[in-house]
Amino acid sequence: MKKDLKLVVVLLIIALQSAAQLPLIPYPAHVGIKDGSFQFSNKSKLLYDSPLLKSMADASATSWSATSALQIESLGYKNSTIENSVLLSLNQPFNLELGMEGYKLDIQPTFVVLRANTPAGIRYGLQTIGQLLDATTDAKISCATIVDFPRFSYRGMHLDVSRHFMPISLVYKLIDELERHKMNVFHWHLVDDQGWRIEIKKYPKLTEVGAWREDKSDKHWNDRSLSKAGAKTTYGGFYTQEEVSSLVAYAAERNITVIPEIEMPAHVMSVLAAYPELSCTGENLGVPPGGVWPITHIYCAGKEETFNFLEDVLLEVLDLFPSTYIHIGGDEADKTEWKKCDKCQQRIKDEGLKDEHELQSYFIHRIEALLNDHGRRLIGWDEILEGGLAPNATVMSWRGEEGGIAAAKMGHDVIMTPGTHCYFDHYQGDPSLEPLAIGGYTPLSKVYNYEPVPEELTAEESRFVLGAQANHWTEYMPVPEQVEYMAFPRLAALSEVLWSPRSARNWEQFTSRLPLQLKRYEQRGLNVAKSAYQVAIMPEIPQSGKFLKVQLITEMPNTIIRFTTDGTDPKANSPQYEKPFIVDKTTTVKATSFVDGKSVTGPRVQTFYLHKGFNSSILLTNEPNKQYTSGGAASLVNGIRGSINHNDKNWLGFAGKNLEAQIDLGELKDIHQITIDALHNEGAWIFAPTEAKIEISTDGKSFKTIKKVEIESPDNELIRDIVQITADFPQEAVRYIKISVRNYGLCPKGHPGEGKDAWLFVSEIVVE
Ligand code: ACM
Ligand code: ZN
Repeated sequence: MKKDLKLVVVLLIIALQSAAQLPLIPYPAHVGIKDGSFQFSNKSKLLYDSPLLKSMADASATSWSATSALQIESLGYKNSTIENSVLLSLNQPFNLELGMEGYKLDIQPTFVVLRANTPAGIRYGLQTIGQLLDATTDAKISCATIVDFPRFSYRGMHLDVSRHFMPISLVYKLIDELERHKMNVFHWHLVDDQGWRIEIKKYPKLTEVGAWREDKSDKHWNDRSLSKAGAKTTYGGFYTQEEVSSLVAYAAERNITVIPEIEMPAHVMSVLAAYPELSCTGENLGVPPGGVWPITHIYCAGKEETFNFLEDVLLEVLDLFPSTYIHIGGDEADKTEWKKCDKCQQRIKDEGLKDEHELQSYFIHRIEALLNDHGRRLIGWDEILEGGLAPNATVMSWRGEEGGIAAAKMGHDVIMTPGTHCYFDHYQGDPSLEPLAIGGYTPLSKVYNYEPVPEELTAEESRFVLGAQANHWTEYMPVPEQVEYMAFPRLAALSEVLWSPRSARNWEQFTSRLPLQLKRYEQRGLNVAKSAYQVAIMPEIPQSGKFLKVQLITEMPNTIIRFTTDGTDPKANSPQYEKPFIVDKTTTVKATSFVDGKSVTGPRVQTFYLHKGFNSSILLTNEPNKQYTSGGAASLVNGIRGSINHNDKNWLGFAGKNLEAQIDLGELKDIHQITIDALHNEGAWIFAPTEAKIEISTDGKSFKTIKKVEIESPDNELIRDIVQITADFPQEAVRYIKISVRNYGLCPKGHPGEGKDAWLFVSEIVVE
């Protein structure tokens, strides 16, 4: 009894603690909640003690009036009363704890005071008050003292506007959102193979030619061949210098630095379509309408014209962007053309370089010197480490964190954007319920749990990690709504990673504040993802036995899950999930989350095939490749068939190798059908097998072939397909089954992987 009471008290304290949070994202560094509340009313004024604060005060007064249906006026403060009002005050003297972006907010029953050292700090404090206010229905906010400042100085979002051009209105909308999330960098990826997006007066063809491509949007991104000469180029767009300047100024007012990215030496086919003489070969391949890999058509590093051109372009860029940092790309340059080019080879000789990596390093050093001469600093993707890092360069670590760790250990500044946690072009939910994305899996909780400072770094080295950034590559985001969907709410999670103290990070608490944040997004007309509510259907398969246990979970804690096992979609009156349940025959489980009595995502669907081979022992002659081992050989008899998504962990993948499997059913069983699933997805270098053989045996020694087929690859237009290989035969008693499936071999002519190993992907072997 006593013990129970103690438990109740502990639970109560936990409940009170979480209830005592303020409805804020990102959560402040220090919050002291007090008794009482401040009531906004028509008597409330928004007072400011510096003309530097006027425009933001005016904007906040307008926005708060709309939120609260009150008339809140903004006024210069001249020793008037602050009763019923909010006073914005720039600190005299400088408060060290708050730094350049922090603020202190004191909410008393009769007035509110917001202090900061800088207008940026006041601006962030205003966002905090705005969030407190929009969480109420009666314009009454809790008394509190908040002392708040960011953990990291670089809190960024990147947007690729080359793969798909985005209207400037979207960029403004994102800048507004960055301000609300207390983020301070917008990295504008203005240049890539598929389009040049910024007006450069000296080189008009960059936008006349380089901003436009043939419209092949009816085809998968990776299935769009290069355009033929003379093709109509109607798809694209660019920003004028005037548009860029206005946007940069708008962002600066909101404490957001816009960093332009001008890619080099690769990802520039759009440039080379306009000025082919800047490449090694002088060839004009046009602006690619879709994916290109590997990227061999790049700037010639041997020609002085290349550097003259880049200097001219960069000088115009520097005039438009006052940012200290200029991003010059530097990623994914395939050196094939450099190896064959006399001028590049001459440069290597003249400069005493070892190889093409050092030639790339020479390229980047030269550009860095130019930027440094103009008082600017260079940022590049982590490939700029190869062949020697430029002396003052900042590294953006994207291929994991290794590049960032190496650079920090060398005393270089680092921005973390590892693909695993910061690539918001990755799926955030089950691909069968999500719009097409590039791949990967970066759900909300993974972003939230990201730690930008790697353990490998000492405290001293950690100081070089300036922060992190969310990257939005738009190959699979053709329209603004799709960018929004991929960004929100993951940006909320990242904002808390970057702003809040590490010790304040708490997934349960964050998710308890998230539903309100989702409502805020919707009120602002953003297209938000609810993927965190998707249900994961998790089987647990025993060592032996013909059953499995099914658990249903969601990322969002305390979500009501309803499910069915009769094939119908779950409804508000379907059974509510409470604990794992047993499945002992072939069953389709459908499950979905309910919020406020409504289903918020489509149902997750999983069929478990409890066929005669389920959970049998199975041996493979060739091991699958490491990235695609799924649950090992056992996953071929685990009752789950692979979906069209080759990353769904139900496929075994073999690069260049065949599948040779032998199943032991444990005893003689009467069977009449054996099916094996294979995948065809040329974009991922996965090809249907060319041949399959199925053999059966009673003793494991002498086998009888019951099926041998040659398989034709699906038509090229069928980009992704599951190929089923089935043997039907008169029922007979069988114990052993041997399956041989032949890999396609090498990727065919014309395929990006031409001449390299094709993948064979196989999934469930169903025995009936
Ligand atoms: C990159 O994703 N290529 C930087
Ligand atoms: Zn060259």
